[in-house]
Amino acid sequence: MKKVFIIANWKLNKTRLEAQKWLAEFSNSNIQVPPSKEIVICPSFTLLPEVELGIHSLKDRITIKVGAQDVSKFSEGSYTGEVSAKQIKDFSEVVLVGHSERRKNFSENIETVNQKVRNTLEHGLTPVVCVSQLDEAKGLDLGAKSLKIIVAYEPIFAIGTGIPDTPENADKMAKNIKEILGEIPVLYGGSVSKFNVKNFTAMPHIDGALVGRASLDPHEFIAIIQNA
Ligand code: PGA
Repeated sequence: MKKVFIIANWKLNKTRLEAQKWLAEFSNSNIQVPPSKEIVICPSFTLLPEVELGIHSLKDRITIKVGAQDVSKFSEGSYTGEVSAKQIKDFSEVVLVGHSERRKNFSENIETVNQKVRNTLEHGLTPVVCVSQLDEAKGLDLGAKSLKIIVAYEPIFAIGTGIPDTPENADKMAKNIKEILGEIPVLYGGSVSKFNVKNFTAMPHIDGALVGRASLDPHEFIAIIQNA
């Protein structure tokens, strides 16, 4: 059975109290997850310690990790407001890199994305590199550690719109990404819901889902995990 990753991207949402409520509802649901599924929750930086603590009691029965939504391209020093891979490593094992919202709103180009990927890999973190087109996958400069990354294919038209890509096209893109980058896990993201997640994860080249809006509600997210 293939390994399936289900990653929650909370984006710019949730206060500490709201995160605590989500974590309590998620933990109290007595969620059953087979070993073939790996769950990652990516909150804002401010919530990393809270989420790490909140998922701790689940770790002996399900594979669940906390991830960051971004990382600095710098390692250390005079960069006010930045958070480095080394600092993230205190809480997380996974980092989203190059999400299209960062490429668009914060002018992240391929050099920035490559630097961020290098920083995460140097600190033993797993980068989940988000790409919306094949050129973004072709531009990745990964060196020897190329197989230590996860890629999420997220077409821009599908993000937050309620209109996902077709499973067939997403699968074709995942296949092409693997041809470019090697046999790495490739996830699909963009309007994933409890109703459509299986259509994607059942495809031969898709290894999971990156879930935005539908991950904000713990019950909806649990249904996605269950249905995936
Ligand atoms: P969405 O976001 O599920 O709300 O479409 C996905 C993402 O941006 O990662």
